[in-house]
Amino acid sequence: MRLDRYLANRARVSRQDVRRLVAEGRVMVNGEVNRTLDREIRVFDRIELDGESLQVGKAARYLMLHKPAGCVSATQDTAHRTVLDLIDEPDKQDLHIAGRLDFNTTGLMLLTNDGQWSRRLTQPTSLQGKVYLVETEDEIDPACVEAFARGMYFRFENLTTLPAKLVILGSTKARLTLHEGRYHQVKRMFGRFNNKVTALHRESMGPLTLDGLLEPGGYRPLTAHEIGQI
Ligand code: URA
Repeated sequence: MRLDRYLANRARVSRQDVRRLVAEGRVMVNGEVNRTLDREIRVFDRIELDGESLQVGKAARYLMLHKPAGCVSATQDTAHRTVLDLIDEPDKQDLHIAGRLDFNTTGLMLLTNDGQWSRRLTQPTSLQGKVYLVETEDEIDPACVEAFARGMYFRFENLTTLPAKLVILGSTKARLTLHEGRYHQVKRMFGRFNNKVTALHRESMGPLTLDGLLEPGGYRPLTAHEIGQI
């Protein structure tokens, strides 16, 4: 919500009074005088009027988790353990997953209560590369490299996948970089070549790489530097 609208609602003053309060430097956002009426206010912002708190500002939370196999990328599930069950943090129900992984896929998972931040990372048009290590049942056909780079038509979504980079590391092992996150995308891409994905591990999302010190099931808060990179 814009600051002027927020103030009018919260302090119950007219739009004209809001303009005056802001022009007189009586409104502080996150400890600094704010003179911009159209500034977007978020739940994480601390807002004061004449030194009195209008909004304390919720703490923004960002976690990196090493997702183990056999765990659902959801916050609730009646049958299986979820990634949230691995986390021992207050208010963990406020967290959501930025980029789900399948039940048996392992690797980098990010959880946050900041929707704008996670959208920047995961929206289909975001150009943040997601890097996966893939193991397959059968030998990887070198023709996959060209086909993945060209893009594949997915009839269900009626779209062609964005160019993806496949580097073959061994007869049944490869590293794949995607720039979007379609449903079961990696498995469907290899499926076109009748090759089953037997193991899938996400190494990185954009500039964020899974911390090698995190055991499967382990997690840690992101650093300020990591948060700022998205
Ligand atoms: N593609 C898949 O098929 N599964 C995942 O978990 C992630 C990408």
